[in-house]
Amino acid sequence: MTTVIDGKQVAASVIDAVKTASQALTEETGVKTGLAVVIVGNDPASHAYVSSKSKMAKECGFTSVQHTLPEETTQEELAALVQTLNNDASLHGILVQLPLPKHLNSEPIIQSILPEKDVDGLHVVNAGKLATGDLDGGLVSCTPAGAMVFVKRTHGEDLSGLNAVVIGRSNLFGKPMAQLLLAANATVTIAHSRTKDLAAVCRNADILVAAVGRPEMVKADWVKPGATVIDVGINRIAAPERGDGKTRLVGDVAFAECAEVAAVITPVPGGVGPMTIAMLMANTVIAAYRKAG
Ligand code: GUN
Repeated sequence: MTTVIDGKQVAASVIDAVKTASQALTEETGVKTGLAVVIVGNDPASHAYVSSKSKMAKECGFTSVQHTLPEETTQEELAALVQTLNNDASLHGILVQLPLPKHLNSEPIIQSILPEKDVDGLHVVNAGKLATGDLDGGLVSCTPAGAMVFVKRTHGEDLSGLNAVVIGRSNLFGKPMAQLLLAANATVTIAHSRTKDLAAVCRNADILVAAVGRPEMVKADWVKPGATVIDVGINRIAAPERGDGKTRLVGDVAFAECAEVAAVITPVPGGVGPMTIAMLMANTVIAAYRKAG
């Protein structure tokens, strides 16, 4: 029988722990955890994600600040906002939603966020701590941290002897995911668009993690029988079968056919997605504890 991971349920248990920790911090020190989320432009999917993040921060009892900036915001204006948020002692986490509109350069913006407030784990200091195996000193990117919770619930803390393949090499996901798997002793391959015979590489994976942004690209014959398959893709596609002109969400994995081969698989929606938000809340309360000393 294939196990389909219920990401909402796992995320709910993380959120419960965050609420308890945040309350305890307030009771012990008077500090209320604070998160600022910044969005620039009009991308509807990004707006939906950002609203969920702000709403969840409120539900966790945090101070939740959302800055919604117009499409024509300049690099200087965005940089100035980040400085203001850096200097605001009531805020422990800052997240600038990506991608930014094309005329803006995201890298200097991300690198200008104070590392201790970089709850996305994208600052070179945080990426570097992860790369050098300092898992507790920095902040780890939320989606890989969430995916790793699923991996460890399935396989335990030590992945010695297991082959893990990550498809995708982004700074936001593929690279940190590979580092986390490596830190847990897995034998890790990072595959990407230039990889030769991707299907064969994937068939070697005991743990297969897909983050490519290509709807249902991973097919059943890419999956090793009994593997754990983590689907990080969120793709909105036409759904003519609905007959109502609406779209539907699918992952990077052809779920139904891969579920026949895998032992454990995550669905889309309801898999990794809810965990990203839960881990963002976890990172924010960790940042608040560190600040409180
Ligand atoms: N866009 C899609 N996912 C993310 C994320 O985890 N963080 C940020 N900042 N932007 C995103």
